[in-house]
Amino acid sequence: MSAINLDLKDYILEGELLNIFKYPSPVLKKVADPVTDFNDDLKLLVKNMLFTMYKAPGIGLAAPQVGLSHRLFVLDVEFQREEIHNPDGDCEIRLSHFKPRVFINPIISDLEGEIIHEEGCLSVPGVYEDVKRAEKITINYQDLDGKSHKMEAEEMLAICLQHENDHLDGVVFLERLSLIKKNLLTKKYLKKKKRG
Ligand code: NI
Repeated sequence: MSAINLDLKDYILEGELLNIFKYPSPVLKKVADPVTDFNDDLKLLVKNMLFTMYKAPGIGLAAPQVGLSHRLFVLDVEFQREEIHNPDGDCEIRLSHFKPRVFINPIISDLEGEIIHEEGCLSVPGVYEDVKRAEKITINYQDLDGKSHKMEAEEMLAICLQHENDHLDGVVFLERLSLIKKNLLTKKYLKKKKRG
């Protein structure tokens, strides 16, 4: 396992809330382009993506979901979210145990095993469904400085990596379902979306 990018923790609690594009936006169906410039703009984008992800809240967010067709995503499968109810009736959301990660130009390989787990997506709000994924994977990727890393992942982290990586190929999780389920859920989702 590669080390956690600790300085990403500075990126969590402040940032700009980005607009999350909802299915079926065209940008979610495009194959994204590789990241070539590892500059300050990229760092700012990652900062705002993490901020937006934690605020949503979600455990992963890919660049196409904020309207940018770039091959990168952020995720955190470990943070905890707590609702604190104050005596005066207010509800405060407290986040802790952050483990933010960023994956740039990822390539997934060595898929092994099978795992079925319920997935949801910030771009397909209100839809949750069991999806079959590989249980164990290897991922090669670059960090914010362009440095290459290789990591093995399993279970929840592997599931999330596969889900986010799909976004870079223009695939939302609905497309990983059986045709019948996909059509049913998509129809229901679009009807609800239309009603607002
Ligand atoms: Ni998603």
